[in-house]
Amino acid sequence: MRIGIVGTGNMASLHASILSRLERVRLTALVGSGPGRAGPLAEKYDARGCDCLEDLLEGGLVDAVDICSPSNLHAEQAILSFAAGKHVLCEKPIALTVADCDRMIEKAQAAGVKFMVGHTTRFWPEYVAIQRILAEGRVGAPQAYYACRLASTPLWRKWFAQGSSALYDLLIHDVDLFNCYFGKPKEVAAAIGKKGEGYDGWNHVQVALLSHTNVIGQIEVSYLMPRCFPVTFESRVLCEHGALEYRFQRRRLADGRYGFETVHHALKMYPTDGEPSDIAYQQVDAYEEELSYFVKCVQNDTPPALGSPEQAREALTVVELVQTLLDSGTVKRDG
Ligand SMILES: NC(=O)c1ccc[n+]([C@@H]2O[C@H](COP(=O)([O-])OP(=O)(O)OC[C@H]3O[C@@H](n4cnc5c(N)ncnc54)[C@H](OP(=O)(O)O)[C@@H]3O)[C@@H](O)[C@H]2O)c1
Repeated sequence: MRIGIVGTGNMASLHASILSRLERVRLTALVGSGPGRAGPLAEKYDARGCDCLEDLLEGGLVDAVDICSPSNLHAEQAILSFAAGKHVLCEKPIALTVADCDRMIEKAQAAGVKFMVGHTTRFWPEYVAIQRILAEGRVGAPQAYYACRLASTPLWRKWFAQGSSALYDLLIHDVDLFNCYFGKPKEVAAAIGKKGEGYDGWNHVQVALLSHTNVIGQIEVSYLMPRCFPVTFESRVLCEHGALEYRFQRRRLADGRYGFETVHHALKMYPTDGEPSDIAYQQVDAYEEELSYFVKCVQNDTPPALGSPEQAREALTVVELVQTLLDSGTVKRDG
């Protein structure tokens, strides 16, 4: 199977390195923001650097397209790819509006191709382990949920201010997890947020959700944390007979070199009667799992059950509602 990547930034580089070592896959082409932009990455993987997406799609170079471009471009680039009969893996968020998302789903169906969205958390081993324990009922029925995803502003992204924000970049992950654990919420009870100086988008947000089974959920996401604050992910489920908790923190290397070091990483079970214990799980690379899964779906001609466009749509629907709540000022807002 031949794959082409759209984009040349962080995600594109990561996906390229994974695809280049997967079996029965060849990374054959890349395209960047303009002529020549994909050159260096394409050269590294002995692939064709295309000048525009049309060249990549029409050159007989690829069977599938992996869209790792800025979020505001996903819809149009996916739709062009479907029209050319290509299977598509598109990074999250699927799109920035539900209306665009619906157009994408319709075009993918009309083209009869596989369409998957990069909701990586569905493959993240710690989140998967929590989901497994909930499904097995080992700690009883879930009662309450807390999640956070906190980081400083991604200053390297030139496109960050163009329609994206912590809602579409971060909250979308945790809403998708909420949906995955408890089903889509029956209510978004409240949303409060701050924008941050110089930004149009909501970049520090707290949301309260209620599931159909009355799990109460609170999610906090931020792109406004100080740069020295560790990147933090947390996910905690309080159940009838105990609590499950995943906590992960990593910080920038202190000596100015590029890179991160993990400062906290734990996946624990706290039973109501008993002592805390580490939850056993297989440590795999979520991104590699996700890309292998997409390849298998295409090769086996099966629609993706993880990261399906319908799941991505459900998450986006909630995020869009939160955006509307915050914009309309029906809840307390900044400024
Ligand atoms: N699933 C996950 O866990 C995860 C994690 C991070 C990001 N993401 C998603 O991945 C996507 C990319 O994020 P990123 O962090 O990789 O951003 P990034 O590092 O800024 O990369 C974006 C890339 O897209 C390129 N680009 C701009 N316009 C383009 C066009 N018209 N056609 C093709 N490429 C174009 C940019 O090129 P120039 O540099 O030349 O402008 C840049 O190389 C976003 O949608 C984000 O939400 C997902």
